[in-house]
Amino acid sequence: MKRIDNKSDLIKELNILRNKAKTIGFVPTMGALHEGHLSLIKYSNKQNDITVISIFVNPTQFNDKKDYQRYPRIVEDDIKKLEKAKCDFLFTPSEQEMYPENDTREFDFDNLDKAMEGKFRPGHFRGVALIVSKLFEIVGPTRAYFGEKDFQQLTVIKHLVKTLNIPVEIVPCPILREPDGLAMSSRNMLLSPTERKHVPLIFKTLTEAKEKAKTLSVQETKDWVVRSINADPLLKIEYFEIVDDTKLESVTDWKNKNTSVGCIAVHVGNIRLIDNIRFNL
Ligand code: PAF
Repeated sequence: MKRIDNKSDLIKELNILRNKAKTIGFVPTMGALHEGHLSLIKYSNKQNDITVISIFVNPTQFNDKKDYQRYPRIVEDDIKKLEKAKCDFLFTPSEQEMYPENDTREFDFDNLDKAMEGKFRPGHFRGVALIVSKLFEIVGPTRAYFGEKDFQQLTVIKHLVKTLNIPVEIVPCPILREPDGLAMSSRNMLLSPTERKHVPLIFKTLTEAKEKAKTLSVQETKDWVVRSINADPLLKIEYFEIVDDTKLESVTDWKNKNTSVGCIAVHVGNIRLIDNIRFNL
């Protein structure tokens, strides 16, 4: 695996490979890699000749400065995992490399950015779009891999590549979970041992909500989820929304259960975790 910090060096290397008709798979990350990230690399290795991963904790997508400062940065550990996972290029740019000057671009997300994460993290998706579009420009991937845990992000990115005509196939990859159901996330390592014991309630509640939805209305299901999470003294729900899987509009009845997704954000002390579940049968 070749580690590159400089965008022009990476562009040169990848141009040589592209000229040899090699396909390029790309896994953008913010590091603190876990099995979920490694599964994206596996998909990429299977479907492409070359796999590129980036590690960059992107300041523009954090609306909370403390969350940005706290975000785990363990590149040396990440490299060890990547050596095993067989990646061809690791791109680790500096902030100056990615944002040499203030990027004032605005994006039209057709309201996909308004609810859920967008509502509670203003500016978050603009930051994601800034960095992902810059990375796509540098890497020029054939395919790019995103986890379904960040369901709204995935939907926003699909929209972004469509509206900006970026020639890349976005490949959604299933959520990976710990044995107790907790969705894998780089933020999990920030949880205290006590907090860690409480957070499996998030997925347990989502799974039970799917059962409840067989008899309860959408609103009753939502209320039940809020009560279930908030009954735990260590957890505080920020939102639970049931939306359709393309427009992310709120679902008000179960007519289209197959396309309904329940998305949740929960605070555990200082840490904020997200997860989601499909309501299909
Ligand atoms: O999902 C993430 O880790 C980040 O939002 C991404 C896509 C790497 C952009 O910084």
